Amino acid sequence: MKKHIVVLTGAGVSQESGINTFRDSDGLWEGHDVQEVATPQGFAKNPELVQEFYNQRRAQLKEVKPNKAHFALVALEEKYDVSIITQNVDDLHERAGSSEVVHLHGQLRKVRSTQYEDLIYDWDKDLKMGDKCAKGYQLRPHIVWFGEAVPMLDTAVDIITQADMVIIIGTSMQVYPAASLVGFAPARTPIYYVDPNPTLNYELQQSNNVEVIQEKAGKGVSELVTQLMEN
Ligand code: OAD
Repeated sequence: MKKHIVVLTGAGVSQESGINTFRDSDGLWEGHDVQEVATPQGFAKNPELVQEFYNQRRAQLKEVKPNKAHFALVALEEKYDVSIITQNVDDLHERAGSSEVVHLHGQLRKVRSTQYEDLIYDWDKDLKMGDKCAKGYQLRPHIVWFGEAVPMLDTAVDIITQADMVIIIGTSMQVYPAASLVGFAPARTPIYYVDPNPTLNYELQQSNNVEVIQEKAGKGVSELVTQLMEN
C-alpha cells in the first residue's frame, strides 16, 4: 500500500507564482488592514470595498500560474497517496494537477449566500452587491473570515490522523485552528517544514520529528520530493 503524505500549505507556496503572503508585508494584505477585508465586521461596514478586494484577488488568479513547488507535489503522487490541506484561497494546487485538495479557508473561485452558507456557487467574474443566491439573498466571497467557523476542519482532522508523513510549506503557523492541525498527526510521524522564515508554533515544538528546510518552496519542495521519490 502506498504511504500517505499529508501536505499543509500556506501563502508561501504561492509566493513564487506572484501572490503576496499576508504577514511578510507588515500585517497588510495588498495594502489593506486584515480587519477591513477579512472579517464579517469589515464586510458589514463596507461591503463594496470587500467585494472589490476579492474581485481583484479573483482576477489576479488569471494572471498567475502554479510554480515548481505545486508541480513537485503532483509528481509525488506517482509514489505516494498525497492529500493537500491548504489555507490558500487560490486554485494553484488544482491547476498544477493535484488530485486531493482541501481548502480550509475557502476558495476565490466560489461565492456563497450570506444567509445560507451551504448555497455555494462557482464564480469566475466580479461579484457585485445586488448579486443574489437562488433564495434571494446577497452573495459574498466563499472565504472563511477571521472569527468564522472553519467548516472543512473536521475533514482535515480526519485526513491528518491517517498521515504517515507530513510536509508543511510556506505558512507562518500563526492562524488557528489551521495551525493546530499538525498536532493531530499520529505520534512520531516525520514532519518536514519548508519555509525561508519558519515559525515553530506550540504544536511543532511538541514534536521531536520536525526537520526544517529553510528554503523557498520552489527549491525546498523540489529537493525534498526528489529525495522522497528515491527512498
Ligand atoms: P503568512 O503570510 O502568515 O505566512 C507566509 C509564510 O510563507 C511565512 O512563514 C513566510 O516565511 C513564508 N514564505 C514566504 N515566501 C516563501 C516562499 N517563496 N516559499 C515558501 N515559504 C515562503 O501566510 P499563512 O500562514 O498562509 O486567512 O496565513 C494563514 C492565513 O492567514 C491565511 O490563510 C489567511 C490569512 O489571514 C484567510 O484568508 C482566512
